[in-house]
Amino acid sequence: MEDCPVRHIAFIMDGNGRWAKKRLLPREYGHKVGAEVFEKIVGYCSDIGINAVTVYAFSTENWKRPKHEIEAIFGLFSDYIDNRTETLMKKNVRLVFIGDRSVFSPDLRKRMEAVENKTINNEKLLFVAINYGGRSEICHAVNELIAEGATEVSEEDITAHMYTKLAPDPDLIVRTGGEYRLSNFLLWQSAYSEIYVTDTLWPDMTNEDVDRALNEFKRRNRRFGGL
Ligand code: IPE
Ligand code: IPE
Ligand code: MG
Repeated sequence: MEDCPVRHIAFIMDGNGRWAKKRLLPREYGHKVGAEVFEKIVGYCSDIGINAVTVYAFSTENWKRPKHEIEAIFGLFSDYIDNRTETLMKKNVRLVFIGDRSVFSPDLRKRMEAVENKTINNEKLLFVAINYGGRSEICHAVNELIAEGATEVSEEDITAHMYTKLAPDPDLIVRTGGEYRLSNFLLWQSAYSEIYVTDTLWPDMTNEDVDRALNEFKRRNRRFGGL
């Protein structure tokens, strides 16, 4: 079980809105079910021996959505950070939020830090990308380097300043909802990630869908530019 070839898996959890629309339900309901599915899938990845999982929960571009939808997403996020510490401890998972949290209220930031600090010594990693953008992350890394006095930066420097520095680059990025794009997700880290797209909408995602993605991954020939 511990020999899973994927050390780090990342999910673009897309399709909540379409899933709800198909059922004539409000988009918010799709996000609610999507949040439940997120917990199931993350738990499964951990059970099969994947040590790092990243999920894309809210992008720097998602602020373009209607206010009520944004509020619903942040309501679910708020509930998650306040009520899952025990589960994370039991599952030996360290929760790390990635993205620009400077725009959040001091109260929300404090609660995010609280769960991060409580889980800090756990071995498995869960990165939740919230107000995350790949370009924004690269700028953030470069700005940190400038603040440290750098006048020239290397790839290693930037890698060491990424929000995901605790984990290797993702081996596999899974996108649900059928779109063939990264939508500003892990731009730096995805240089050699395998990409798997499924038409399955995120709220319909099952453990078997994860198995299918992993089986496809095993068939891929990763050359990293070599022969
Ligand atoms: C993904 O589902 C969740 C977020 C972007 C927050 P969407 O809300 O984008 O669902 P679709 O793509 O409209 O179906
Ligand atoms: C990507 O989904 C962002 C998240 C899953 C959080 P979007 O629905 O925002 O992506 P686009 O707009 O289809 O590219
Ligand atoms: Mg979408």
